[in-house]
Amino acid sequence: MDREDSEHSILGLDGRTALVSGAGNGIGRVCALALASLGVRVAVVDIDAEAARSVADEITSAGDHAIAIGADVRQSDDAQRMVDATVESLGGLDICVNNAGGMLEHKRSRFLDATPEFIEDMLDLNLGAVFRCGQIEARSMLERKTGGSIINVSSLGGIRAVRGVNAYGAAKAGVIQLTRTMAVELGPLGIRTNAIAPGTTLTRAVDDTTAARALETTAAVNPLRRLAHPEDMAGAVIFLASDLSRYVNGQCIAIDGGFEASVGVIARAKT
Ligand SMILES: NC(=O)c1ccc[n+]([C@@H]2O[C@H](COP(=O)([O-])OP(=O)(O)OC[C@H]3O[C@@H](n4cnc5c(N)ncnc54)[C@H](O)[C@@H]3O)[C@@H](O)[C@H]2O)c1
Repeated sequence: MDREDSEHSILGLDGRTALVSGAGNGIGRVCALALASLGVRVAVVDIDAEAARSVADEITSAGDHAIAIGADVRQSDDAQRMVDATVESLGGLDICVNNAGGMLEHKRSRFLDATPEFIEDMLDLNLGAVFRCGQIEARSMLERKTGGSIINVSSLGGIRAVRGVNAYGAAKAGVIQLTRTMAVELGPLGIRTNAIAPGTTLTRAVDDTTAARALETTAAVNPLRRLAHPEDMAGAVIFLASDLSRYVNGQCIAIDGGFEASVGVIARAKT
């Protein structure tokens, strides 16, 4: 066995199947590409079916295995269809990355100005959909008695408070607690559930919602002196998907360059 084969067998990912939602862009796309490069057969799911197709093509043209599924994770019928199509086309479902989410359409609203529609939409996309997709995914894993690993994408905004990030922050905090309860309820059934909490990551979502000046300041106060790239998220997702994390359950890994650990350093950014 050469070194590459032995690294692959430590991970135990070769031949497994994964569903990554919101994989047409940004963090989800990079996670789908990374899993596929390690021998995982990947269902690339996105509400933007064309974006999903383009990422699936990127994977297959590199010689790896992927299918594209257009689905809106907020709709239970779509969520059921994406899970069924994954199992049917790829032969199973071992890994789910519940990544679809964000603040894209609504931008930000101050707490006092948040409308009922804004609150409801933000909670539904960023928490309700993760809950419902998680149920459907876990039921499918249980039906086939294969066990599995579910990875929910939370946010540093669910750990630290940011002005104007109220409903999104509450939803992402909810994802961390939901992850813990899923871990407790599904662990005995052979399914591990963990989360990642990305810090500010340079994707189109951030380009669309955050002023350049605010990004510069955020990078300057980060202990690693830069913002994250989507590629920075893939390592933790691979770890949580793989056998390396076989005794890790109910955890949320902040991938933020140490920002969450650095409470109070903002005033000292220039030192
Ligand atoms: N970028 C950041 O700074 C950051 C920080 C913390 C957490 N996150 C979280 O990471 C995840 C990915 O964010 P990103 O920055 O890569 O965003 P992105 O906008 O680059 O990609 C998100 C993808 O999700 C898809 N999507 C949106 N709504 C969907 C739905 N209802 N059903 C299916 N697909 C849907 C979009 O079409 C898009 O392709 C989100 O959950 C986001 O909240 C991002």
